[in-house]
Amino acid sequence: MKSGISSISIYIPPLYLSHDDLADARGIPKDKFRIGLGNINMAIVPPWDDTVTMAANAAEMAIEAAGIDKDEIGLLIVSTETGVDQSKPVASFVHGLLGIGHRTRVYEIKHACYGGTVAIMNAINWVKSQHHKGKKALVITSDVAKYGINSLGEPTQGAGAVAFIISDETEFVHFLPGSNAFYSKDVHDFWRPNGSLTPMVDGKYSIDCYLEALEFCTKDLQENLTGEIGKKLLDFVDYFIYHLPFTRMAYKAHCKMLATLNPSLSEEQIKEIYNDSYKEKIKPALKGSEQVGNIYTGSVYMCLMSLIDEVGENLINKNIGIFSYGSGCGAEFLIAHIGRGIKQQAKQHNFKNQLMRRKKITIEQYTELYGEPVTSKTMMNSQAITIDDEFSRYIFTGIKDHKRQYAKK
Ligand code: HMG
Repeated sequence: MKSGISSISIYIPPLYLSHDDLADARGIPKDKFRIGLGNINMAIVPPWDDTVTMAANAAEMAIEAAGIDKDEIGLLIVSTETGVDQSKPVASFVHGLLGIGHRTRVYEIKHACYGGTVAIMNAINWVKSQHHKGKKALVITSDVAKYGINSLGEPTQGAGAVAFIISDETEFVHFLPGSNAFYSKDVHDFWRPNGSLTPMVDGKYSIDCYLEALEFCTKDLQENLTGEIGKKLLDFVDYFIYHLPFTRMAYKAHCKMLATLNPSLSEEQIKEIYNDSYKEKIKPALKGSEQVGNIYTGSVYMCLMSLIDEVGENLINKNIGIFSYGSGCGAEFLIAHIGRGIKQQAKQHNFKNQLMRRKKITIEQYTELYGEPVTSKTMMNSQAITIDDEFSRYIFTGIKDHKRQYAKK
């Protein structure tokens, strides 16, 4: 057995807005969102959810799925770019809510959408070190992706959290030693200045930065995987999952990866290879992005959850190429191998059930929720305790004395 991910769970808020309704409201052809971006619905956060509650909800499910006690956790890392405080880490709120013991290292990581991968890699290094003393790490990615009303980024919003238990012995997911290919560059493609609730984005440039990072990482990955594997990367990797700010990005990313591996081929030939490999290697991982939108740090791992729901136990012995990108920018391309532990994980259908239980909201309700000031949240949240949603175990109840308040239902 090797170190890696021993369980993974997701939490998606219980409300969604359809992109068709958004398109109608903005006077944009529906196909621009459905085909141009590949998005169908997007998750909307109710007043009783935020980055903390989503993280705690996902984490509790991951702990249960791993069948471990909370006192077995010795490291807790939350990766987010939509934290709720400038100083106090989301990880501390979650640590308190879940009731994890004091003999735990607890911290937050930020590197836009790439932060989740950094957290997972840190946790794997920790369980391999002498510091872990047989304990496990809990890693959580949690974000509310909120752009401005009527902005170009609006149809790429979303929200959700993904949690992982990392242990030194697992038969579920381990990463191919040395496969990691990194890339970093100081760019202003997407950023959120202090005090701004929504990000600023140079949309087209951000796509260029993403693709440049992918090209660089693909070349390095090929070099890292020396010998036959490097030469036959496309055959060796059964599924490719890419960070998806919107679903159509999978097409742009995969074509870029194929063109990098085959520099002598024309654009038309690359499209042909894409079409051949799309159904088998790309499509099974896209459901989350289509239905939820961008969840920033957890986006690429929501693709993994989609793949697990779609392919189930047949993922055993498969290799998954994971391309993680975060604006600013940082990226990493790595390869995960799936072992027998998938049998247990695949039984959960945790993601599918959450997507099915969601309630659709109207554009008017969306507009009202979007602008909801914190003061009235406090009032609304007194009713939230009665919210009948089995996945929402932790809720935000308002702000008192500048301190955010949470409760377990
Ligand atoms: P836009 O200007 O709305 O879109 O911006 P567009 O006019 O380029 O159209 C988008 C696509 O729809 C195009 O397809 C159009 O042709 C097509 P493409 O040429 O790209 O293949 N289209 C149609 N298709 C069918 N029927 C129609 C129709 N009309 C147009 N009628 C953009 C799009 C994504 C730039 C914008 O939404 C945006 O700024 N989003 C936010 C930034 C973003 O998502 N960047 C992605 C890379 S950076 C990243 O991933 C990091 C991030 O996650 C943050 C982090 O790391 O923390 C964002």
